[in-house]
Amino acid sequence: MFNVPSTPGGAAIRSFGEFQPSNVVTNADLAERVETSDEWIQSRVGIQERRVAGPEDTVLSMAVAAGGKALASSGLSPEDIDLVIVATCTVQDQIPNTAASVAARLGIVAPGAFDVNAACAGFCYAIGLASDSVRAGSSRNVLVIGSEKLSDWVDWDDRSTCVIFADGAGAAVVSASEEHGIGPVVWGSSGERAETIFLREGKYLYQEGQAVFRWTTTELYKVALEALERAGVEPSELTAFVPHQANLRIVESIARKLGAPQARVARDIVTAGNTSSASIPLALSRMVGRGELPSGSIVLTLGFGAGLVYAAQVIRIP
Ligand SMILES: CC(C)(COP(=O)(O)OP(=O)(O)OC[C@H]1O[C@@H](n2cnc3c(N)ncnc32)[C@H](O)[C@@H]1OP(=O)(O)O)[C@@H](O)C(=O)NCCC(=O)NCCS
Repeated sequence: MFNVPSTPGGAAIRSFGEFQPSNVVTNADLAERVETSDEWIQSRVGIQERRVAGPEDTVLSMAVAAGGKALASSGLSPEDIDLVIVATCTVQDQIPNTAASVAARLGIVAPGAFDVNAACAGFCYAIGLASDSVRAGSSRNVLVIGSEKLSDWVDWDDRSTCVIFADGAGAAVVSASEEHGIGPVVWGSSGERAETIFLREGKYLYQEGQAVFRWTTTELYKVALEALERAGVEPSELTAFVPHQANLRIVESIARKLGAPQARVARDIVTAGNTSSASIPLALSRMVGRGELPSGSIVLTLGFGAGLVYAAQVIRIP
């Protein structure tokens, strides 16, 4: 009935970028403020140190820094980008959205621009949307960013949360590609568990740690396996598993259930903390930078968090 673009081939990730604030906060630093210890944090959460933004770093500025690096290493010009998606759940101001401001600061003129709030699963949701948009012919190239300043929403006197969360941003450029370099997204939610992670009094992050822990370690490996199956990838073909860096025990528990002992498992949380929607692109960008994910690597990503929501897909490293 209508004219629509003829469907091109596939979509693939073309480049990554990342940004971390310079301020390092160690477990010993936290133990000076709340009753905790390096031993407790490392054994229960797996974090040794994390980055905490100063007043000069905002969700927007970190998104611009990470997005700018992804754009620079993509080899594309700003005018090649048709859509900017920012995954975030920690902006101070809901209006205006972050994506349009990111685009303006990067010199991307008049792209589609919107934010996604799917908490710690936001990056995987955004990659799913970007891939679908490119494959449908709505966009040629999409800049996808996860940026979070969780430190604004953490009660620094609450030892159950302040030891976990951190700040940072990661980004990727998704482009049209002859081969499918991004598998089908498997996404879903469990809204009946919404009260397990929320902002207390609209100000501070609160979570029922054990309930969230149980959900992640009993349910989510099934989502990961479904993403592999839908992409037609055997666990034995995986180069790496890069899940949301929520807690090292959660990461390792899900990894054990995948049946992919050869796959390198992202342990970025050890030095980056839990940066919500930024954690997966940050881990991917840092692993690529260290040469741990050579071009062509097959990587399974799995995001999960407040909502509760989740999303997983297989990607090929450019
Ligand atoms: C939060 C989490 C680390 C807590 O670990 P846990 O083993 O469940 O610990 P509990 O909450 O049962 O607390 C055990 C004890 O440690 C104490 N404790 C909590 N935080 C502490 C800290 N930072 N240092 C020292 N002790 C701490 C508790 O007060 C409790 O003490 P009590 O036994 O005297 O009451 C863990 O539940 C978790 O990681 N859950 C998943 C959360 C998550 O990943 N959220 C993000 C999803 S995107």
